[in-house]
Amino acid sequence: MKSYSIALIPGDGIGRDVTAAAWTVLETAAGNFGFALVGTEFPWSCRFFKDTGHMMPEDGIETLRGFDAILLGAVGWPAEVADSVSLHGLLLPIRKAFVQYANIRPHRLLPGVTGPLRAERFDILCIRENTEGEYSGAGGRVHQGTLDEVAVETSIFTRAGVERILRFGFEQARSRRGKLASVTKSNAQKYSMVFWDEITRKLAADYPDVEVTSYHVDALAARMIMAPESLDVVVASNLFGDILTDIGAAIQGGLGYAASANINPDRSAPSMFEPVHGSAPDIAHLGIANPIAAIWSGAMMLDHLREKAAAEQVMKAVEATTASGIGTIPGKDSTEAITAAIVAALT
Ligand code: NAD
Ligand code: IPM
Ligand code: MN
Repeated sequence: MKSYSIALIPGDGIGRDVTAAAWTVLETAAGNFGFALVGTEFPWSCRFFKDTGHMMPEDGIETLRGFDAILLGAVGWPAEVADSVSLHGLLLPIRKAFVQYANIRPHRLLPGVTGPLRAERFDILCIRENTEGEYSGAGGRVHQGTLDEVAVETSIFTRAGVERILRFGFEQARSRRGKLASVTKSNAQKYSMVFWDEITRKLAADYPDVEVTSYHVDALAARMIMAPESLDVVVASNLFGDILTDIGAAIQGGLGYAASANINPDRSAPSMFEPVHGSAPDIAHLGIANPIAAIWSGAMMLDHLREKAAAEQVMKAVEATTASGIGTIPGKDSTEAITAAIVAALT
């Protein structure tokens, strides 16, 4: 029997509930298609930090490297551990170490879900650069605590990094409706974003079949709300992509629906699958977290593992569930009830 080794990192807060839910659904789908998912759970989280002083062991990255994929819930419990410590100790190093440079985030309405917009027929695929840019981690603080204090946080845009993410965006556009929105801010950021625009124009010559438009990020944020149906693939830098994909989540009905895949396109290291949302401390322990974002992310994992039929079955089950009205109103159905309905629809 074909078998895949999956590292499970539930993390903090609702990350634990939604990862368990996704795993139940994925194991059922695997059984239906005659392959095995062998999960190994790692307790790396803010609680682990409180116990050990680290978000993951020193050899954590090397431990993960041997897996076929990583399924992650959410990291962060700001009441106990500063976000700047927890995220830079676990989530962000994994994305960088495994060169998961393409963060893929689909935004569309599931059947039965009412979004906040009049528009209903949008289908946007955000491609977010995931290893450099505004999240490079380069910077520092001097004269801390004095009136002369200075904080510097430097964005790093490399030709290799910008080219590969834009090329990825062009390829995705080519395989969909042929439209690419390249997100810039070159009116204000005259080095990094002018560079981004130049590379967009250079690559456009290789993709005459793709209609590419550069939008300033502020205008694109408005367009996602005013005219989301006009967008197909959106490609953005790390921070711009982060913000735009929470807008994407909002227009698809909420963070409980927004899935994400951190992909290493070369397959030289494992890719990681996680919802867009965080640990949601405000609803943790209530049992009402929507598991659909995590389950959809799990479907993206099956697709990446080339188990396409199983991935499609999971998405059909999610769609049948929301079409029947389950999981469509925040807080109405429990995590458990939504998961059970999706498992029951997996046939
Ligand atoms: P958040 O995404 O956790 O929550 C924002 C809002 O959305 C909250 O009101 C929450 O209740 C709601 N929400 C989120 N997911 C939901 C779901 N599945 N079902 C129903 N409602 C849901 O963002 P935040 O509050 O800014 O961050 C909380 C913590 O999570 C912080 O520590 C933050 O750094 C971290 N975080 C981690 C990740 C990640 O690990 N990938 C992503 C985002 C935020
Ligand atoms: C996301 C999250 C992370 C990000 C945070 C928690 C560092 O918001 O995955 O969207 O900004 O990448
Ligand atoms: Mn985010």
